[in-house]
Amino acid sequence: MSTSHTLPRHIAIIMDGNGRWAKQKNLPRSAGHNAGAKAVERTIRAAEKLGIEFLTFYAFSTENWSRPQEEINGLMNLLEKTLDKYMREAKTNNLRILISGRREPLPPHLLAKIDQLTAETAHKTGLTVVLALNYGSRAELLDAVQKLVQDGIKNPTQADLQARLYQPTVPDPELLIRTSGEKRLSNFLLWQCAYTEFYFTDTLWPDFSEKDLSAAVEDFSRRTRRFGGL
Ligand code: IPE
Ligand code: IPE
Ligand code: MG
Repeated sequence: MSTSHTLPRHIAIIMDGNGRWAKQKNLPRSAGHNAGAKAVERTIRAAEKLGIEFLTFYAFSTENWSRPQEEINGLMNLLEKTLDKYMREAKTNNLRILISGRREPLPPHLLAKIDQLTAETAHKTGLTVVLALNYGSRAELLDAVQKLVQDGIKNPTQADLQARLYQPTVPDPELLIRTSGEKRLSNFLLWQCAYTEFYFTDTLWPDFSEKDLSAAVEDFSRRTRRFGGL
């Protein structure tokens, strides 16, 4: 499949459907999340092959704290394992890892691992992987507004606000993918997706493959983007 000249620089993904995938197989939801972590690995490799520069994964939303504590604990453990894995692999791969989200109320040991990993990979020149963790767009915008106030900026420009987002140097995603058939943003990148192309697939996240990513990129390449112009 040709991947065309209009390759998105940045793809953002709402990884959804882990629970339904597990349910279909009569497995606990945690099995769906574990399989979802493997899909993240596959997607990173596939994005590297395609030559994508930035890949953002919605890993945990500010609203996901309302899930049962057992599921939250499982997700935090999985996340910690993932951070450890990236840390081990940082010696041999070229991934730059960034985290986007509110630090509170993430546990201190997790924050320490996040800081260690982002420092360790800061100089990497390959694909940038952004993990949106305890991320919510409304929280991000509110935090940015509070920083504007703290900085004493009375007449902020768009650039002033942009500069106070969690990851101000990451370009807006050209393409947003949501799996599992849901067609909503769920508080993800509201500011950054102003002109983003959306791609929805019924594939459940644990089943997401290199082929699915190529299909999304191929679909994107056929879109006409007008940005309000003619
Ligand atoms: C996405 O899968 C993973 C997270 C939100 C952490 P879900 O856990 O939302 O799976 P469904 O939507 O219940 O199938
Ligand atoms: C969005 O999925 C959040 C993540 C993928 C981390 P949810 O499953 O939490 O979203 P809703 O509840 O269906 O909107
Ligand atoms: Mg869901």
